[in-house]
Amino acid sequence: MLVLGLETSCDETGVALFDSERGLLADALYSQVDIHVEYGGVVPELASRDHVRKTLPMVEEVLRSAGVAGADLDGVAYTAGPGLVGALMVGATLARALAWGWGVPALGVHHMEGHLLAPMLEDERPEFPFVALLVSGGHTQLVRVDGIGRYRLLGESLDDAAGEAFDKTAKLLGLPYPGGPHIARLAAEGDPARFDFPRPMVGKPGLDFSFSGLKTYALNTVEDCRAAGGPSEKDCRDIARAFEDAVVDTLVIKCRRALRQEGLKTLVIAGGVSANRNLRASLTEALARERARVFYPAPRFCTDNGAMIAFAGAQRLAAGQRDDADTAVRPRWPM
Ligand code: KG4
Ligand code: ZN
Repeated sequence: MLVLGLETSCDETGVALFDSERGLLADALYSQVDIHVEYGGVVPELASRDHVRKTLPMVEEVLRSAGVAGADLDGVAYTAGPGLVGALMVGATLARALAWGWGVPALGVHHMEGHLLAPMLEDERPEFPFVALLVSGGHTQLVRVDGIGRYRLLGESLDDAAGEAFDKTAKLLGLPYPGGPHIARLAAEGDPARFDFPRPMVGKPGLDFSFSGLKTYALNTVEDCRAAGGPSEKDCRDIARAFEDAVVDTLVIKCRRALRQEGLKTLVIAGGVSANRNLRASLTEALARERARVFYPAPRFCTDNGAMIAFAGAQRLAAGQRDDADTAVRPRWPM
């Protein structure tokens, strides 16, 4: 199965070529972050326009670098949702037009399934069944995975996603969008003992999350610092540390609880927040104590990328799935 994958659901253009036998043959990634940074978040119209400019040249680049012709492909996969409707339509329209021209099938895949399967792009792959923690800008979910397409939601955020909480707290601290990596950088130098943020919902049974209260807690802490003439750079570092520790602790507690509940020893973590080093280190350590293992995507495949879409598409195309003529993008799409 030789599959081209296109990802255009938000502010990254990702194009990749995956082969079931040879693995990832080529991938190209372009981030629009410089375009959106001055607005403090993604501007959907600008995102769509930039995907129009970038996607086709990136397809040409990927095919050329792998020495593959379009007609040699077994299919073209693209992100059909969830995401920004205009941005999704750019990828969907291009993928379907190319597939039609090359005489190969097209298939729309679920963005979060792409994230979920991204750890399988690594040499050491997790085996089914496992529990997956999906932590991105739009989702925080714990999912039981028994195979491709066999997913059961165990718990999810009742309000803000973990990445969204990182981004909003970063904004409070005057950091640019997307805030996750900036918070992580500050947190690394922060004092973990100065502020004690709550661990939301860990006292309640179940596997749901709630992160909006942490953002309010951060806001109140910033206000307290302001009343004392701050927030100083040290205040910001210490707040970032307390916030990150609270998110990481909460995620670790719920992951352990999910593994115990399902009687499983394998955890997969994916999505933009899974790039967080503190989260990776804490999960690895906590799970090692229970003789469980955690699998991550390579850092470049944690955030949005075309490789995960090409991979997920290859699995589903191999199972005989393809788009109907009237398939539409799905900006909101439960997995
Ligand atoms: O998966 P992704 O690229 O896009 C979505 O599908 O949402 O995730 C982006 C999210 C953003 O909220 C970003 O701040 C967060 O992932 N993120 C991080 C880190 N790197 C990216 N959050 C915490 N620590 C990081 N190192
Ligand atoms: Zn994503």
